[in-house]
Amino acid sequence: MKKYLSVLGLAFAMAGAQQTTEQRIEQLLVQMTPEEKAGQLSQLNSDWEDLTGPIVQKGKEDKVALIREGRLGSVLNVRSAAQTRMLQEHAMQSRLKIPLLFAQDVIHGFRTTFPVNLGQAASWDLALIERSERIAATEAAAYGIHWTFAPMIDISRDARWGRVMEGSGEDTFLGTEIAKARIRGFHGKGIGHTDALLTTAKHYAAYGAAVGGRDYNSVDMSLRELHQVYLPPFKAAAAMGVSTFMNAFNDLSGIPASAHPYLLREVLKKDWGFKGFVVSDWGSIGEMINHGYAANGKDAAQKALNAGTDMDMESRVYAQYLPELLKEGKISQKDLDDAVRRVLRMKFALGLFEDPYRFSDLSREKKYTNHKEHLEFSREFGSKSMVLLKNKGNLLPLSKELKNVALIGPFAKETVANHGFWSVPFKDDKDRIVSQYEGLKNALPKSTKLLYAKGAEVEGTDTSLFAEAVKAAEAADVVVLSLGEGHAMSGEAKSRSMLEFTGVQQQLLEAVHQTGKPIVLLINAGRPLVFNWASEHVDAIVYSWWLGTEAGNSIADVLLGKVNPSGKLPMSFPRSVGQVPVYYNHYNTGRPASSPTNRNYVSAYIDLDNGPAYPFGYGLSYTTFSYTPITLSATTLKGNTSLRVSVKVTNTGKTAGEEVVQLYIRDLVGRVVRPVRELKGFEKVHLNPSQTKEIVFTITPEMLSFYDDQLVWDWDAGEFEIMVGGDSTTQNKAKITWEK
Ligand code: GLC
Repeated sequence: MKKYLSVLGLAFAMAGAQQTTEQRIEQLLVQMTPEEKAGQLSQLNSDWEDLTGPIVQKGKEDKVALIREGRLGSVLNVRSAAQTRMLQEHAMQSRLKIPLLFAQDVIHGFRTTFPVNLGQAASWDLALIERSERIAATEAAAYGIHWTFAPMIDISRDARWGRVMEGSGEDTFLGTEIAKARIRGFHGKGIGHTDALLTTAKHYAAYGAAVGGRDYNSVDMSLRELHQVYLPPFKAAAAMGVSTFMNAFNDLSGIPASAHPYLLREVLKKDWGFKGFVVSDWGSIGEMINHGYAANGKDAAQKALNAGTDMDMESRVYAQYLPELLKEGKISQKDLDDAVRRVLRMKFALGLFEDPYRFSDLSREKKYTNHKEHLEFSREFGSKSMVLLKNKGNLLPLSKELKNVALIGPFAKETVANHGFWSVPFKDDKDRIVSQYEGLKNALPKSTKLLYAKGAEVEGTDTSLFAEAVKAAEAADVVVLSLGEGHAMSGEAKSRSMLEFTGVQQQLLEAVHQTGKPIVLLINAGRPLVFNWASEHVDAIVYSWWLGTEAGNSIADVLLGKVNPSGKLPMSFPRSVGQVPVYYNHYNTGRPASSPTNRNYVSAYIDLDNGPAYPFGYGLSYTTFSYTPITLSATTLKGNTSLRVSVKVTNTGKTAGEEVVQLYIRDLVGRVVRPVRELKGFEKVHLNPSQTKEIVFTITPEMLSFYDDQLVWDWDAGEFEIMVGGDSTTQNKAKITWEK
């Protein structure tokens, strides 16, 4: 191999001057061969852990040899101090000793898991969300991981898409605030600390708008919709220094996101000034052949690198073709070196050139293997993510006088399922994760007997377990029925065409309902489901998502009243899959339906009421809250001033509780049509019985601004409605006029 030592590199070395990172990067660059540069831009799955995508490379390949030859820059899905150290040792045998980056999907916790992300969003508690990522980063970094492929910040209005479980739901404002909280949590005191992780804003972009809610399917939308609804979380992530971006699998209006010059070069790297690097999603560069956008792997590599994707996860086309493409002048030295600089900057930022093993620390790994405080936090977070949808006759919280409680359902004794999708499997999960049965057993008074029956499987037609379930129900004072969808029925490549309970669960519900016993329905899911019959017939419904390691305890805390539920839905729940996408911040149309049953020459279905089964922002409590009418600092404003909006919220019940006070604005006339309302602020407030607090929001013209069809970001003078309440249907309104 030709020696690559330049005068520059020699000068630096001889000067012995304290080199800046940029100087050290330049010194490396001038020494690197094209093959080593392509290696730095290549990431492969480890051979030790699970695959998180389809097999791309048939047959064995010697990853250790690639590492020792400096032809592999990053490895994903390896997670232990020992294995990361071992691989790093091989990297230190390479000619230039450039350390490896270890990456993992740390999506909703690591050794301690938390609610699936859509459940976390239901907490509307940015502090809890940030703390959960702080814990996740501390634990993952203790296992040798440098970089998480999180946060996933895809907005989605489509419950058929399985990956809604991984995001923050349908609203751009809430999704953007949560994205920022997650990045703060992962970064902690800053990249370079050994409990901080590099972050990834994914999936760039508009992956959640796949046609038909079918994963990996095409996305086609106006640039206005893209910038207005789907890009804000990514723009905010770039502005706060997210470390990397990850391509989405989809094509966006005909161009695959992995080679989309507008998204990558124009918006991300030029307009937003993004200094991190872009990694493809699993094999997505090579998949451009399937897309019909690349003729072969070499064409795919050329298009992706030229468009601004810096690192190739798993498709191997960068390693294979970049040197050749460089020689043929089909990619420029400038673009190649820019991509390598971006990757090397992150490795320097982590301190890996000073000490490649600083994250591979067995003592820290042991310390965070079963961390009491982390588990306690998981229990709290789980209870704060649950949403009370119905509570007829205040059946909940369960009375301490109950003699017999029957817990029935396919999820009641599940342990690992509570991890939800995108959790990192560990051998002791079965022993550590608290089942619903265990949680209730631990929490019920000794005087209350807990009966149990499985009742049904999650899928299939077998009803042979019904008899035992009905018997348990007949012997009980109250039935807790735990139904839903399997934990692996939402997540990646888990799109569903139907949203009802699977298998014979609905029949089980009706069989138990026949006994006449009061029913508390627990719904376990990673997405909105359709359960209209249950909504009409059962007494209480709690949406319990998948809550993580302490699930059973979190659920028991809410059912028994130790915690008053405070969750609010981050997505609209459809009445039928036929209604999807259904979302609160829709346009009014020229023929709006004035009520759920209005169908006459209006935008409605002839066979279904209008509006969602449960609206965005909805959630009940064991107490009640009242709102005063809105107080405004002015009703007519002019120019660049601000408006003070306040309400007084009172806890009018007997139990302390938390309420998410939500601020919505409607722009009545715009340069383009405007949504019937948009979330512009929220505050979660704790109130003791009879306590009143004033909640104040400040509105500025920036909050009224939007993109028009020319992509001009500005606000319009005119009339606006201000709404403040406990969900997106609040009619607590006031009107203002704001002139320019
Ligand atoms: C998967 C996912 C992506 C994940 C990556 C690595 O296909 O789309 O979110 O980070 O591969 O596991």
